[in-house]
Formats: sequence, structure tokens, C-alpha cells
Amino acid sequence: MFRRTEPTDCMITWDGAALPARAGEPLAVALLAAGITHFRDTAVSGTARGPLCLMGACFDCLVQVDGEANVQACMVTVHAGLRAAPQHGARDLDDAA
Ligand code: FES
Repeated sequence: MFRRTEPTDCMITWDGAALPARAGEPLAVALLAAGITHFRDTAVSGTARGPLCLMGACFDCLVQVDGEANVQACMVTVHAGLRAAPQHGARDLDDAA
């Protein structure tokens, strides 16, 4: 679906698996370039969702980043060692603090 035009220069993890990425690119771009399109499941029906707008408007790209839930993958820049994971349903209320 997507093809990189620039070389990768760091590694991140997605759900525990190592993925090549480019520091400074949006996390959503890194995941899409790796062939990942399922970022989260909806809270009510569990339907799979992935990025739609890539500009912070739709919230369909919510993931967990470095242990923090409800992070918009299109608005986070990649850094070496970033740890991301899919978000399943709504976040725990304990995370809201
Ligand atoms: S893709 Fe729409 S908010 Fe991230």
C-alpha cells in the first residue's frame, strides 16, 4: 500500500516486534510503511481501525506509545527505541491521571 522513498535509520517496536523506521517521521507513517493498517479496535463493537486523515482530526489512529494510551499515531514523531502497541477498546480510567 505504501512504499518508502527515504532509507530508515532507527528501530521501533510494534506490539513487541522490531520495525525499521526513520527518526522524525510520524509514527503512523512508520507503521503504514511496515504494512500495518490495524492500529486500534473500537470501544463498543471491537471493529478494527487505522489512520484515515493523517492530520489529527479523525482519532482513528489511537495507539499506545511508551505505555501511554490514547496517543494519535499521526501526531507523534518517531525516535529510536519508541515502543508502540495497538489500543484495544477504551483506555482504563486509571490511565486518565
Ligand atoms: S489519522 Fe486521523 S487523527 Fe490520526
